Amino acid sequence: MGYAREDYEGKPVIAILNTWSDVSHCHSHFRERVKDVKRGVWQAGGFPLEIPAISLAEVFQKPTTMMYRNLLAMEAEELLRSYPADGCVLMGGCDKTMPGLMMGAISMNLPSIFVPAGPMLRGNWQGKTLGSGSDVWKYWDELRAGNIDQNDWREIEEGIARSPGTCMTMGTASTMTGIAETLGFSLPNASTIPAPDSNHARMASYTGRRIVDMVWEDLKPSDILSERVFDNAIKVLMALGGSTNALIHVIALAGRAGIEIPLERFEEIGRETPYLVNMRPSSKYLMEDFYYAGGLSALLEGMRDLLELDVPTCTGKTLGENIGGARIHNSDVIHTPDKPMQAEGGLIVLRGNLAPDGAVIKTTAADPKLLQHAGRAMVFDNYNDMAARLEDPDLDVDADSILILRNSGPQGGPGMPEWGMLPIPKKLLKQGVRDMVRISDARMSGTSYGTCVLHVSPESWIGGPLALVKTGDIVELDVAGRRLSLKVSDEELAERRKQWKPAPRKFERGFGKLFSERVRQANEGCDFDFLEGNAPTPEPEIH
Ligand code: FES
Repeated sequence: MGYAREDYEGKPVIAILNTWSDVSHCHSHFRERVKDVKRGVWQAGGFPLEIPAISLAEVFQKPTTMMYRNLLAMEAEELLRSYPADGCVLMGGCDKTMPGLMMGAISMNLPSIFVPAGPMLRGNWQGKTLGSGSDVWKYWDELRAGNIDQNDWREIEEGIARSPGTCMTMGTASTMTGIAETLGFSLPNASTIPAPDSNHARMASYTGRRIVDMVWEDLKPSDILSERVFDNAIKVLMALGGSTNALIHVIALAGRAGIEIPLERFEEIGRETPYLVNMRPSSKYLMEDFYYAGGLSALLEGMRDLLELDVPTCTGKTLGENIGGARIHNSDVIHTPDKPMQAEGGLIVLRGNLAPDGAVIKTTAADPKLLQHAGRAMVFDNYNDMAARLEDPDLDVDADSILILRNSGPQGGPGMPEWGMLPIPKKLLKQGVRDMVRISDARMSGTSYGTCVLHVSPESWIGGPLALVKTGDIVELDVAGRRLSLKVSDEELAERRKQWKPAPRKFERGFGKLFSERVRQANEGCDFDFLEGNAPTPEPEIH
């Protein structure tokens, strides 16, 4: 390789796990940005080794990147275990890359620090600001309703993604990189710097410098993570109005640290934590605005009375020390608890005879009128069934109907594809309907919106109650009472259960088979059962 002995001898070896590839537009700058990380590692007296890891490009991978989150987690853990690394820099951002990389690093428990890809710049179309994902869904409905044409659509496509970086709404990427920072795995404010900003390159080189010191200090994930730190992360999730996907990922991350987080913890914290950041898809602004308003550090400083401030972080300082002095520059973007956007967090956990192990709804992104609602079910057995019938002008639905999609869960999808924001049937779109109650065992994109009940557990594929619903049944959503109910008698449901038969698995070999057999349910974090727990894999004895 051309290295001299003095290039590496006596120096910490820093593995840089880089999820760059040609297929990941969100990480397209990582090919260059890794040079900034290496610059920092060299400057601090480390020896950087860049090691590629799978990209998980959200919009291109089928059936869903979620099916491969655990594969990335396994890859990260095994790369760090099998190569001679002393510490690692994790380079990710697009939705599943942060949890995948961090799950692996937590399990391996080497000194670890995360470089978020950073959000892309604001989108523009005909003088309007476009937000990733959210405005795709919005204008896609207008295209289907005949209110815009293909020329408009092409201009929207060309205006919505103007730079490298992750989705710039408060989607899953922005939510999870904010959580990584709150957990103490990124430098202060790193998660809000736009990808093309020169401050992003500076942050990357600071990160490279810092990981070398972390190795000498032997500052590992197990020194940083605790229940109190995860409580902080859940509070920030609520304040951000973050993605529903975060519930699954936070449970899985905690599981790798040997910490069990029941869904109820999100509910408890959500009742005490206000929604503070005025961003799409729940409300108005984008990540660039959040950064200029002060970013995550300013948010944390504004809500400091709600946080555990004496917890350790990757900087070697406490969270409270990291955020001290941060200021809010635009109070319409970052609100404070005395003037919240909403008094409670927007992620609500529901239970009931339709979701005995829980389901979730993001109320900040829903039509308030639909949060207490009963209606006739229109059941789609799977995604193809839905796609085949949704445009049918004779589909027997009205604005009060409740759309149900099943066989889209962890095993049924498999991987819980982001199908949970079921499209509004075309005939209703033409009548001006833009939101309906929708229920599924799928996930939805963090950039999506609408009255969508997601992650219904246990999933229908394994015989959860969603498998027993028939078109025409009455279903009731009661957000105030935290209930999701199927108005069918227990006797009738028992009868239907006798008739129910499990479908054959979709994969009979390879990773799909492993995934289907070993993935846990949504309320348990969708990790593989054999990867949870906080014991690093022991080195095997060599005979
Ligand atoms: Fe990568 Fe949205 S597609 S973050």
